[in-house]
Amino acid sequence: MASVTSLTDLVNQQLASALSATLPEASADPLLRRSDRADFQANGILALAKKAKANPRELAAEVVGRITTGELIKDVEVSGPGFLNLTIADGAITSNLASRYADDTGRLGVPSAEHPGTTVIDYAQPNVAKEMHVGHLRSAVIGDSVVQLLEFTGENVVRRHHIGDWGTQFGMLIQYLDEHPHELDHKAGENLQASGEEAMSNLDRLYKTARKLFDSDEEFKTRARRRVVDLQAGDPATLAMWQKFVDESKIYFFSVFEKLDMEIRDADIVGESGYNDMLAETCRLLEESGVAVRSEGALCVFFDDVKGPDGNPVPLIVQKSDGGYGYAATDLSAIRDRVFRLKANTLLYVVDARQALHFKMVFETARRAGWLNDDVHAVQLAFGTVLGKDGKPFKTREGETVRLVDLLDEAIDRASAVVREKAQDLSEEEIAERGTQVGIGAVKYADLSTSANRDYKFDLDQMVSLNGDTSVYLQYAYARIRSILRKAPEGVGPSAHPELELAPAERALGLHLDAFAETVAEAAREYAPHKLAAYLYQLASHYTSFYDKCPVLKAESPEQVENRLFLCDITAATLHRGMALLGIRTPERL
Ligand code: ARG
Repeated sequence: MASVTSLTDLVNQQLASALSATLPEASADPLLRRSDRADFQANGILALAKKAKANPRELAAEVVGRITTGELIKDVEVSGPGFLNLTIADGAITSNLASRYADDTGRLGVPSAEHPGTTVIDYAQPNVAKEMHVGHLRSAVIGDSVVQLLEFTGENVVRRHHIGDWGTQFGMLIQYLDEHPHELDHKAGENLQASGEEAMSNLDRLYKTARKLFDSDEEFKTRARRRVVDLQAGDPATLAMWQKFVDESKIYFFSVFEKLDMEIRDADIVGESGYNDMLAETCRLLEESGVAVRSEGALCVFFDDVKGPDGNPVPLIVQKSDGGYGYAATDLSAIRDRVFRLKANTLLYVVDARQALHFKMVFETARRAGWLNDDVHAVQLAFGTVLGKDGKPFKTREGETVRLVDLLDEAIDRASAVVREKAQDLSEEEIAERGTQVGIGAVKYADLSTSANRDYKFDLDQMVSLNGDTSVYLQYAYARIRSILRKAPEGVGPSAHPELELAPAERALGLHLDAFAETVAEAAREYAPHKLAAYLYQLASHYTSFYDKCPVLKAESPEQVENRLFLCDITAATLHRGMALLGIRTPERL
């Protein structure tokens, strides 16, 4: 059992053929959408009538005459200036859901692309020897969900964590470590989380003391500068020490990603250093093709529409006048690697909107060089800033950047309190586990439920609230459904009965469930997890109305009990699947 054609698509097909039978020369989209008046409304006839210079209502009536009502479409009528209102047969709703339910691949009948492309996605890119902050949270959370969505649609996805692991600051760090060799030693951490914290505090301490020395001691500064040269020249002893910083940081990153309940694979971590060998070649190619030119010793790319406040053009600097390469040279080299070696069709960058100008210039440069074109394109999935409750960029009271781990811990604490208050039959251990799943889910959902390009307020009170558009609300909805299913008497279980008439709340729930596939497709196509989040929230609301109006275990007949249990179960399965695509767990009990 594979993919299931949605009711929307089935109706669309019937309408399209009725349309083309009426007006064979015209091909028109029936423009079907969900409607309050009927199940669907088709608005496409208006445009068609205009083109054919026909009366829209007459044309509509003719189309209606060609639609066979019965199994799928129960009723169709002309309304307004030439719309069609369509009602779906109850049996079709139930049967279609039953086919989704029977899909044993767990995909709920959602089709997978026949000719998938390859997308390289650049996300979750913290910096070596530095703390992770809320900006890194957004890239990780949004990126992870987009990976899940794209993979679910069948796309080949290559993940790249472009960590900041290269640059002049490493000269200072390495020189300091060389002179104080035990600064990164571990006290033998027992678990990942503990050693992650220790790794970060080691790095942080080392960074601060090295910085102090660098600023106050001219001789150390000179030695540090020499180290940068050694590093870039690939001196083995210097590289070995650099590697220690990278490894130490990775211990920390992995501990944070684990707390975020997110899979990050070591092989996908290809930081800035990974493109070091390509930098000179990238510059040569750009210079030879004339895309980049020398200006005051630096290799630059100019753009007509990028100017500074003084009206002078601001170039993208690919190589500095001292011969050093920066962020742009690395990103341009990464593009060559992703396009020519990884054979990407799409390059996706989940990066802070404040880097939009950088990517605009980098992409345009790559287009001029012919590395990007109509078949291979690059997109920045730009995200907005995380704000504090006061609406200003999120900072501690002392004005410092908030550590991501502290935020996550606080979210888990708050969520555990909520779980504890509601818990009826949970052990302490279960409360801790659920608290983590609820707290991390809350943070992810708050981020994913608004469109990425918007700023949002980090408000833990709101995030762990049981009412409103939160993950907790969805997790409780899921757990409640699972508990109803557990309460069914022996021998009574979910089973679809297409012969039964449906109550209005059942129809609304059923039609919404049928729209899962198209919602996922749209969210993946537009890199818009918030559309899936909105769908899931509506699903929980439809379920709540259904549950209020339609008794499940006390329904009128044994068949109706089974059919309603079936509606419960497929709602739970859809919630579970959808939340997983957002990277959020749905505990069985809360
Ligand atoms: N490490 C960078 C930062 O923390 C983000 C890297 C984004 N990716 C890229 N290919 N430039 O801001």
